[in-house]
Amino acid sequence: MPVRKPLVAGNWKMNGSSSSAKILLDGILTQAKSFQSADVALFPPSVYLQQVQAALSGSAISWGTQNLSQFKHGAYTGEISAPMLNDFGCKYVLIGHSERRCLYAEIGLDQLVLDYIIAEKYSMASQEGIIPIICIGESPEEHAQGKTEEVIARLLDIVIEQNGVSALSQAVLAYEPVWAIGTGKSATPEWAQDVHSFMRERIRKHDPVTADKIQILYGGSVKGDNAAPLFSMPDIDGGLIGGASLDADEFVKICQAASFNL
Ligand code: 13P
Repeated sequence: MPVRKPLVAGNWKMNGSSSSAKILLDGILTQAKSFQSADVALFPPSVYLQQVQAALSGSAISWGTQNLSQFKHGAYTGEISAPMLNDFGCKYVLIGHSERRCLYAEIGLDQLVLDYIIAEKYSMASQEGIIPIICIGESPEEHAQGKTEEVIARLLDIVIEQNGVSALSQAVLAYEPVWAIGTGKSATPEWAQDVHSFMRERIRKHDPVTADKIQILYGGSVKGDNAAPLFSMPDIDGGLIGGASLDADEFVKICQAASFNL
């Protein structure tokens, strides 16, 4: 069984201020020695990127943004490009988060079109040397209809078809069931393990080496007290954390759970 280094990613979403960010960053940094065996990355709102870069430079903690444009530059008001992320030392970028999907769905794009846009964003991040964390997960309706694997396979296959499986060797996947996000109702470790294993096996059909190497994170109501059983599953390589990443002590507990599970 290959050992993959765990990764804990804190997605701050649209929360905080420069003063609360400072308190959070200080709280995490002072305890960083306690989770040295895990990779940790923070995803602040982009306006705080410079502050986060200044605080984390020289530490073992990485940072990134919550989205990026599939285009390199041009007339795309409000968007942020991959070269801009490089300008601020981003190692990772979140792609295809369900909250972004919902916004696009509101303007009439269907899920298949969105999967292709996500594949384009993935390609843009990879070209610029930024590691994409691709978020995949089923909605409550799809969950009720037993469509979890169908939804996940559709996006994975499009990403592989558009970019080649080798590109996945420089990527991270995150299984985020929409019904578990922000609801306090995490998937059980067994459910998440089954889905993660399905994802890994889907990749294995194309390339066993990449399948063994790729980190697959779980996201959806992960807290300090449910992180360890999730991370102890063989195909769960860490977490993508929302609400609990806004509290330094809670987030550190999750990072420690990942670190001890290595
Ligand atoms: P919560 O941890 O708040 O459920 O959010 C998960 C998430 O969406 C991380 O990207």
